Parts: sequence; structure tokens; C-alpha cells
Amino acid sequence: MNNQSVAPVVSDQWLDEIADGLTEHGWMSQNVASRLGVDLLSGLRNEVQTLDRTEALTKARIGRGADLLRDRSVRRDKIAWLQGMTPVQEELFAFFESVRVGLNQRLFLGLKRFEAHYATYHEGDFYRRHVDSFQGRASRVVSLVLYLNEDWQEADGGALQVFNRENEDEICGKVLPVEGRMALFMSEEIPHEVLPANRTRYSIACWFRCDEVPLPL
Ligand code: OGA
Ligand code: MN
Repeated sequence: MNNQSVAPVVSDQWLDEIADGLTEHGWMSQNVASRLGVDLLSGLRNEVQTLDRTEALTKARIGRGADLLRDRSVRRDKIAWLQGMTPVQEELFAFFESVRVGLNQRLFLGLKRFEAHYATYHEGDFYRRHVDSFQGRASRVVSLVLYLNEDWQEADGGALQVFNRENEDEICGKVLPVEGRMALFMSEEIPHEVLPANRTRYSIACWFRCDEVPLPL
């Protein structure tokens, strides 16, 4: 490895492609390993594995404000928010920023910022069917999940299952959390779930939001 970082490759054509996917189906999945590069992907995996080993991840919650719950029947993953301060996170944030600007230019979504966390699902962990944002108080507009698992097989479970936006009982896609694969979807529209993982599953979830940064209390 060398110390020179190579910026992730984001072309106009690729941005057209992902914008079209969101417009036509509300979601898409694609392998972006060659855009991000192996060094960035392994660097990110090392970070989340270290966080996991040192128990620096915390139990994920659902809901917001007074409704915040740690409900183990709904989701069992553990998370750590990214701050964009390490070299690999800086590179990843540059990639997210290009996606944010590119989607705004094409779809006029008014995406103002993004937030991202690492997630670890240990054996048996899952996240039941849900949407990432509730209509009316929509601030998460587009969700992006990036997977960091080497040699992930079908038998390892942990697939992201995507449901039809018109009929949430109809499965319309299944994404294996293979290293370098990305899932992108409209946060309010697309119900999805993480099936139980049979081995530790690492990912980064990012949300592009249409609200401003909250002011400190
Ligand atoms: C989430 C989520 C999907 C995945 O964190 O809200 O749905 O495949 N993640 O990890
Ligand atoms: Mn989700």
C-alpha cells in the first residue's frame, strides 16, 4: 500500500445511471468496487473491524426523540457514526459529496447534507422490514448502503431484501452484502429488511438529508 490516496471515480455518466435507477424503480444496486478502489474498501473494513473488536459500537436505536427505543425484536445491529476525520473516511465523504451534488443536479432533491454510520450485524442479527424516513417529517431522502464483506456467500445470509414500493409484501430484489456492492434507494418509499446474518456482516449506511444541520442546544 502507498500513502497516496486515489480519489473515487465518479463520472457524469455514472451519476446519470444512478439517478435514472432512482427515478425509474426507486432503488438500485451496483458494484462500485472499481470506483472506490480496493485500498479504500479494505481501509474502511479495517476501521469497522477495529471498532467492533474494541466494543466501540453501540446498539442501534429506532424512532426519534422520546420514541427512541432499543428494540431487539426490530433491529440488532450495532453502529458507530462516521466523522469523516480519518483518511479513508475523508475519501469516502468525497464520494458521498459527489453523489449528493450529482443527484441534486439531476433530480432536484434539495439534498443538503449526509450522515453515515458503520454497522455490524453479528451472527443472528437482523433488521426487520422498515422504511428509513417517515412521510411528513421526511428529512432522510436518499439511502445508500455500502458493504464491506470479503467472500460473502448466499449461505452467509444477511441479504438486504427490497420490497415493492406499491405492495410491501412483494419482494422485488435481494442484495448480498458483498464487498464493494452498493444499494441506493428512496428513503421514504422503499420498504426493506436485513435478513439474519450467519456470520459478522459489515456495512456503511449513509443518508442524504434535505434539512440543515441542527443547531446545538
Ligand atoms: C438501515 C438498513 C440495510 C443494510 O441501516 O437502515 O436498512 O443492508 N440497512 O445494511
Ligand atoms: Mn433501513
